[in-house]
Amino acid sequence: MAAIGPGGAIVYLNGEWVPLSEARVSVLDRGFIFGDGVYEVIPAFAGRLFRPDQHLQRLDNSLMAVRMKNPLTRERWRAVLNTLLERNGGGDQSVYLQITRGVARRDHVLPEPVPPTVFAMSSPAVRQNRQPVTAIVCEDIRWKWCQIKSTALLANVLMRLAAQEHGAYEALLIRDGWLTEGAASNVFIVTDGIVKTPPHSENLLPGITRDLIVELLAAHRIPHAETAVGEAELRAADEIFLTSSVREVVPVVKLDDKPVGAGVPGPVWERVVALYEQFRNAEVARIKTGAAA
Ligand code: PDD
Repeated sequence: MAAIGPGGAIVYLNGEWVPLSEARVSVLDRGFIFGDGVYEVIPAFAGRLFRPDQHLQRLDNSLMAVRMKNPLTRERWRAVLNTLLERNGGGDQSVYLQITRGVARRDHVLPEPVPPTVFAMSSPAVRQNRQPVTAIVCEDIRWKWCQIKSTALLANVLMRLAAQEHGAYEALLIRDGWLTEGAASNVFIVTDGIVKTPPHSENLLPGITRDLIVELLAAHRIPHAETAVGEAELRAADEIFLTSSVREVVPVVKLDDKPVGAGVPGPVWERVVALYEQFRNAEVARIKTGAAA
C-alpha cells in the first residue's frame, strides 16, 4: 500500500546485479505491452525476509494460474532476495519481485518460446501501522481471478485514485453486494465483538498478513469468522482494519466520510496489532539468531 522503489540502489534483473538507474527492459516486454506478469511484495525486518515461504508459495500459485514456469528454485529465490537485501543495506525493507512472460513480437499468444523477464528491487520500509486511515466504498471493477497477484493493476490503480480524489487512503471493494478486499489490502471488520473477514476465493488476494492475523485470532481464542460480509454490515461495523505486507495492520476510522465506531482506532484492532507486533518481533529475533534464513 505504500510506495515501493526507487529507494534501493541495486536491483536484480535477469541474473545480473545492476544499479536501478541502469536497469533496462525492452519496450516489447510483455509486462509493458500486456501487463502479462505476476509479482510479490515481501517485507524484511532487520535484513531478513518475513514469511518468505508463504510469499514464494503464493508466487508459485500465481505463476501456475497464468501458465508460467517459475524461472528460479525456492532456494535460488531466497539467495537472490537475501543478496538484494544485503546489497541495499539490510534493515527494514520491502522487496518487490516481478516475472513477466518475456520479450517478443506483439501478439496476444506468445509467437515463440522466450525466456521470462525476472526482476527484483527493494526499498527502505516505513512502518505506519499505527497511523489511522480513511476509506471509501467502491464497486469492485476487477476481473474474476483476483487470487492471482497479477501486475495488471489498472482497476486497482483507478479505485485507489477514486479514494484519493475523495481525500481517502483506501477503497473497500464491493462485488454483488459483498465485501471482497481493499484495492491494495485485505479487510477485517468487527461486529458485536466478532472479527470477520471474507474467506479465500477468486474474489480476493490471499494476503499473507491476512492469513497470519487469522492464525493469531485462532491461537488467542479471539472470536472470529472467515465469512461473507455484506455492504450494510461493513458500513455498520464497530471497527474496520486493513492488512498488507507493507502497511501491516492499519485501523480505518472513517468510511465514506462517516466515523467508523467512535471514529478512533478500536480496542479489537489495538489487541490484534499488539499480537501481530509481538509475533513479528519474536520471529525477527528468531531468524536473527540464524534459526531460519
Ligand atoms: N499489495 N489485496 C490486494 C489487492 C493487494 O494488492 C495486497 C497487497 C493485499 C495484501 O496482501 P499481503 O498481506 O500479502 O501483502 C491484499 C501489495 C503490498 C502491493 O501491491 O503493493
